[in-house]
Amino acid sequence: MTPPQGTGSSLDCAIVLAAGEGTRMKSSTPKVLHEIAGRSLVGHVLAAVEELSPQEIRVVVGAGRESVEAHLKKIAPKIKTVHQEHRGGTGHAVQLALAINPPSGTVLVLAGDTPMLTGHSLAQLIEHHNNGGYVASVLTAEHIDPTGYGRIIRADDESLLRIVEERDATEIEKEILEVNSGVYAFNGSKLLEAIGKLKNSNSQGELYLTDVIEIMRNDGGKIAAALIDDFVETLGVNDRVQLAESAAYLRDRINDDFMRAGVSILDPTTTWIDATSMIASDVTIYPGSSILGTTRIETGAVIGPRTTLESCVVLEGATINESQCFESTIGAHSNVGPYSYLRKDSLLGNHTKVGAFVEMKNSTLGDGSKVPHLSYVGDATIGQGTNIGAATIFVNYDGVNKHQTLVGDDVRIGSDSMLIAPVKIGDGAYTAAGSVITEDVPPGAMGVGRARQRNVLGWVLRKRLGTKSAEAAARHTGDEVNNKKG
Ligand code: UD1
Ligand code: CA
Repeated sequence: MTPPQGTGSSLDCAIVLAAGEGTRMKSSTPKVLHEIAGRSLVGHVLAAVEELSPQEIRVVVGAGRESVEAHLKKIAPKIKTVHQEHRGGTGHAVQLALAINPPSGTVLVLAGDTPMLTGHSLAQLIEHHNNGGYVASVLTAEHIDPTGYGRIIRADDESLLRIVEERDATEIEKEILEVNSGVYAFNGSKLLEAIGKLKNSNSQGELYLTDVIEIMRNDGGKIAAALIDDFVETLGVNDRVQLAESAAYLRDRINDDFMRAGVSILDPTTTWIDATSMIASDVTIYPGSSILGTTRIETGAVIGPRTTLESCVVLEGATINESQCFESTIGAHSNVGPYSYLRKDSLLGNHTKVGAFVEMKNSTLGDGSKVPHLSYVGDATIGQGTNIGAATIFVNYDGVNKHQTLVGDDVRIGSDSMLIAPVKIGDGAYTAAGSVITEDVPPGAMGVGRARQRNVLGWVLRKRLGTKSAEAAARHTGDEVNNKKG
């Protein structure tokens, strides 16, 4: 299906209700700020709404107002917020949203806790509403388990009579599987008229937005109930069970889209990709991997198994195996892992290698350079074609301040070197294995920073008689070495 074109989908104002406490989440975080697939619940709703390019978006905030407003400012700076001081119900929230400059054209109302809605379905609802001349259109869905939702009561001719909340429903009404999604399109002027007539005569003593339907109908308005094909889009999140349920559905939706676009995902049930990440075709993702934040992966890359990439850039043909990478860049045809940890601002050039058990942060590794085994690389700039020997530590912290290490091109750092920053290793230089390098090593020099070895000959036969070592040593009694003192 293609999105509706032309005036059919024109929308004056979208009102997002996000003032509720979300008591059932049992959380100190306001409900709409809980995240799935890398976006807050309200962030998903706003992303869908923004696809319709409404003239205006108003979000009703209340519980946890400061943090919700701060978040909205970051993700959608153009929206307006309306403050609902006390929870007076969804009808009260909409009254407040309409109080200043009530919009007269089409108004979309939806909740901040339905993250699965797509812009496509919202556009279809608006188009159906605008083209049919309705005063109100309710998006409905048939749920396998309708518990907790308002039920749709239709007349004998199938038209929408009213919506009854679960708590106020009779046993027979509770059997109804068609529920109110909480998404509505209204004629703005008619909504303003009807919303003033709401009464709080229900089990919660609140003004229910759902009651405007019956009011508008009694006033002679034409009402639509538009049944959506896929009930998943209308899932609301009220507790952590529903949060996990929506997260799983969203994971499947995102994975399906990527697989259809040419990404191989070997086990979609254990692969979690944020809605904000981008993956090119012919990328392969092994099981247990998470691709998070603003990560971008270019073609031919192989990710996983059990790898996390958060806000990373992975260039063409790179492989990252069993590793954790954050805000880092992995150059083309580079290999990372297994078991490595790239922290913020690790910038790997092309054809580089960061092998097993390497931690790296705020460091640049030039094209073709390698840190193959068991190293810590912090606050370093490493040139091209350089090899960092196994178990090298960039000693960047003196206990108070962090310092930089510069390593040139085609350097060979010997295994188990400690590079005590600030320090510079010139182009083409070497360091001897096991060195503690405290001074700069000039280009082409060999830096040696360790005690010279001495052998105490015959020591074991003198000091460890009766041990297996002494027995082994005794096999060489005739040898000159065992008869000399070192
Ligand atoms: C609501 C609907 C129900 C529907 C369901 C769909 C009403 C009375 N009921 O029930 O028919 O099936 O959504 O998910 O509308 N809010 C405010 N201010 C308030 C009260 C709520 O802003 O005073 C906001 C909440 O933050 C939430 C939304 O409105 O985002 C819906 O409120 P909630 O308490 O979750 O309503 P439900 O019980 O889910
Ligand atoms: Ca809800």
